[in-house]
Amino acid sequence: MGISTENLTKIYEVGDNKIIAVDGVDLQIGSGDFVSVMGSSGSGKSTLLHLLGGLDKPTAGKVFIGDIDIATLNDRALSKIRCERIGFVFQKFNLINEMTVKENIVAPVLISHRKPNEEHIGEICDILGITDRLDHTPLQLSGGQQQRVAIARALANDPEIILCDEPTGNLDKRNSAEVVELLVRVHEKFNKTIVIVTHDIEVGKVAKKMFMMEDGKIKLV
Ligand SMILES: Nc1ncnc2c1ncn2[C@@H]1O[C@H](COP(=O)(O)OP(=O)(O)O)[C@@H](O)[C@H]1O
Ligand SMILES: [Mg+2]
Repeated sequence: MGISTENLTKIYEVGDNKIIAVDGVDLQIGSGDFVSVMGSSGSGKSTLLHLLGGLDKPTAGKVFIGDIDIATLNDRALSKIRCERIGFVFQKFNLINEMTVKENIVAPVLISHRKPNEEHIGEICDILGITDRLDHTPLQLSGGQQQRVAIARALANDPEIILCDEPTGNLDKRNSAEVVELLVRVHEKFNKTIVIVTHDIEVGKVAKKMFMMEDGKIKLV
């Protein structure tokens, strides 16, 4: 499943100021593409990613997930798409520290009222190298390991699309390289559509297609 946008625009109004965070973006991401969006801090990357994943609503323009215009969905249908067809990976991992690694990973599956596919989840954990950590809690793990758990969680529901916002932003160079390598492997093995937004060119350049974002506008590089 791919994602596309038409004239996608997000304007924040703060007092008398208007901040055009995303400025008329037309983007085509094909099914199975591995795409990065690079740009400096404040260029609009997170806002764009949130719009692509239906976490935020545009001021103008459209987002299509597959051929579905997500503005036409009610809250319930949008939540269902977000939970079942999109996996999110964030800079700060966003794991639940009170739950074990295994419970974190299967959470999206249970929220979707599905039964976890143990074989699939076992395979994901093996690839991500966290199989011996399943009974630990997130705070017992390093940052790199926590991000691997977050990637496993993003894959648990077998969504077609994985959206990553600065997935290496809280990691040192070595762990950063490892996480990126794992995303490459996930792409090769499971053929997901992957979008990474990052300020780090080392991270962004592993993608097959690279975009640059500047002042809310985007261009292919
Ligand atoms: N909730 C918000 N309210 C007001 N301004 C915002 C909000 N979120 C982001 N912005 C502004 O939108 C612009 C783009 O932000 P963001 O998408 O976070 O950029 P990036 O992820 O590239 O650092 C910035 O100028 C930022 O200050
Ligand atoms: Mg950001």
